[in-house]
Amino acid sequence: MPQQLTPATLINIGQQFGTPLYVYHAEKIREQYQKLTTAFKNTDTVFFYACKALTNINILKYILSLGANVDCSSINEVKLALYAGFPRERVLYTSNGIAFDEIEEAQSLGVIINVDSLSNLEKFGKKYGHSYPVGIRLRPNIMAGGNLKISTGHDKSKFGIPVDQADKVLQLVKKYDLHITDLHIHTGSEIKDVDVFVKGIGILFDLIPKFKELKFIDLGGGFKVPYKDGDTETDIPLLAQKVSEAFANHPNPGGRPLQVWFEPGKFFVSECGYFVTKVNVIKETDAATFVSVDSGFNHLLRPMFYDSYHQIVNISNPQGAPKKYSVVGNICETDTFAWDRTIAEVREGDYLVFYNAGAYGFEMSSNYNSRYKPAEVLVKDGQPHLIRRRDVFEDLLRNQIEL
Ligand code: LLP
Repeated sequence: MPQQLTPATLINIGQQFGTPLYVYHAEKIREQYQKLTTAFKNTDTVFFYACKALTNINILKYILSLGANVDCSSINEVKLALYAGFPRERVLYTSNGIAFDEIEEAQSLGVIINVDSLSNLEKFGKKYGHSYPVGIRLRPNIMAGGNLKISTGHDKSKFGIPVDQADKVLQLVKKYDLHITDLHIHTGSEIKDVDVFVKGIGILFDLIPKFKELKFIDLGGGFKVPYKDGDTETDIPLLAQKVSEAFANHPNPGGRPLQVWFEPGKFFVSECGYFVTKVNVIKETDAATFVSVDSGFNHLLRPMFYDSYHQIVNISNPQGAPKKYSVVGNICETDTFAWDRTIAEVREGDYLVFYNAGAYGFEMSSNYNSRYKPAEVLVKDGQPHLIRRRDVFEDLLRNQIEL
């Protein structure tokens, strides 16, 4: 079992590579993947890493080396996955709202495709008929997930073909002799309650017999990871048990064995990631003591965008007396990372670390306020490796055309 990276290690890495800095711990990713494969060892289950969480090429290669497959949400993620070395039959492209030419490109690259609209399914049928297998992304009309912004399976969501339109899917299947190999749902992110997945399976079980060439059911991602002290993750062994039971209760739905797919993103990479920042300024006011770090929502958007909680530790003064702070950034907007947070006494120049920053951290970062994107470091076998250099001034001008 890998230990967390220690404050001393993180300070060394921060000093060596500068801040703000994303640091990833490879062995933690391996531990997470092993939890999944161990729990599901008695079922025919395959895990596709939802790489939108973190696409650094070294992370993709590492996850490939572990034996997982990959799930992509854009054609460029597909290309990154192929570049990393994933064989095309292990690359899944679960698109939403895309132009058909992107689907054509994915088809020409030979990857697995999930289509999420009747419109694109019709175009797919016209062009490929039975010749290329395809999956259908359905919207199960289940509300689940950490907050509304990351709930995708409910009956007001844009994602997938509403399950109540399954008849229309079946008409297209018939009309074009579509070769449907998987049915897909993704209900949301940060789903702790395993019964949500079981409910999803129940919805798919009703449809499975209608798709004669089905081989896979894809239950999407969304496993919860613990962000706060006292939080727990999705109980993966319990999920494995309940998935098995669901299949035992519906032996051979549709008359053939089905492989189960999952697409976790956060579960793979959230806890491996540490976002290391340095304190620029401490400002005492009547309202709060503000600690401004050398970052902002341009680098870690989750707190401002989803009200999400990241544990913040003063690794420079872990034994300091606990005090209340509002931790903010240096962006010219309100960019609060934490309100009224108890942290060991903070001094200017201290390193503050945000935990659980591997998933959707760097990946959602930007150059807002013309600030540089952070560097990324991968710690593997005890050694830190720079895997993305910090931006430099030229990066801000790259792609601009001066008239
Ligand atoms: N599969 C599909 C089709 C998805 O849309 C997603 C996430 C996943 C799998 C992986 O979900 P995960 O296991 O990572 O929860 N930026 C947000 C999360 C957005 C998730 C979008 N789709 C956040 O930082 O919380």
